[in-house]
Amino acid sequence: MSEQVRGAEESEKPARLERPARREKPERAQKQPFLYVVVCAAGVACGVSKLITAAQERDWEVGVFATPVAMDGFFDTAAVEARTGRPIRSAWRRPGDPRPFPAPDAVVVAPATFNTVNKWAAGLADTLAVATLCEACGLGVPVAVLPCVADALASHPAYRESLTRLRGMGVRFGDPYAGAAGKDGGRPEFAWERALDLLERP
Ligand SMILES: Cc1cc2nc3c(=O)[nH]c(=O)nc-3n(C[C@H](O)[C@H](O)[C@H](O)COP(=O)(O)O)c2cc1C
Repeated sequence: MSEQVRGAEESEKPARLERPARREKPERAQKQPFLYVVVCAAGVACGVSKLITAAQERDWEVGVFATPVAMDGFFDTAAVEARTGRPIRSAWRRPGDPRPFPAPDAVVVAPATFNTVNKWAAGLADTLAVATLCEACGLGVPVAVLPCVADALASHPAYRESLTRLRGMGVRFGDPYAGAAGKDGGRPEFAWERALDLLERP
C-alpha cells in the first residue's frame, strides 16, 4: 500500500539519532504524543529549533518534515536532527523501507510559505511535506499553521481562497506577527509557541 494511501507514518523501528542535549526518559518516551513539525522555505525557518524545544517542553515528541527547498540552507538541519533524535524527512522513503515516524497526534506547519499553503489547498502533493499535510486533516488530528507570507503575496486571490478552503477543512491558522512591535519598533519576533497554543484549543 502506498505511503499516501496508508496516510500515517507508522513505524516498527524509528531511526533514532543521538540526542545528547536531553535527559533520557525511556519509560515515558513510549507514551508521549507525537507531533509532526513541517518546515517550509521562509527566511524565519532558521529559528525552528525554538518551536521544537517549546514542543518538547510541553511533552511532545517531535519529528520534522521539511520541503526540499527548506532543506537547502534555510535552517540548521544537523541541529534539528540532534534535537529531535530523528532524521528530518524530506523525500519519500523507498518501498520496503520502514516508516521512520509513528502516526501523528498533531501537526504544525511553521513557517508556512505562500507556495506550500497554495499547493496544500489545491491538493498538489508533489513533496513529502505537502503530501503529509494533504493527509493530515483526513487523519482527524489537529493541524496548526503559522504562515510567513508577505502582504503583497497574501493579497493574491489564490492565497485568500487557499486559506478559506483550509479553514473549512478544520485547519487552525495563527498570526505569528500579531501583538506589540519588536524592540526596534519593527515587526515582532515570530511567535513560534502560538502554533502549540492553537493545538490546545478545544
Ligand atoms: C531568503 C529567502 C527567504 C524567503 N522567505 C519567504 C517567506 O518568508 N515566505 C514565503 O512564502 N516565501 C519565501 N521565500 C520564497 C520560497 O523559498 C519559495 O517560494 C519556495 O519555492 C518555497 O518552497 P516550499 O513552499 O516548498 O518550502 C524565500 C526565499 C528566500 C530565498
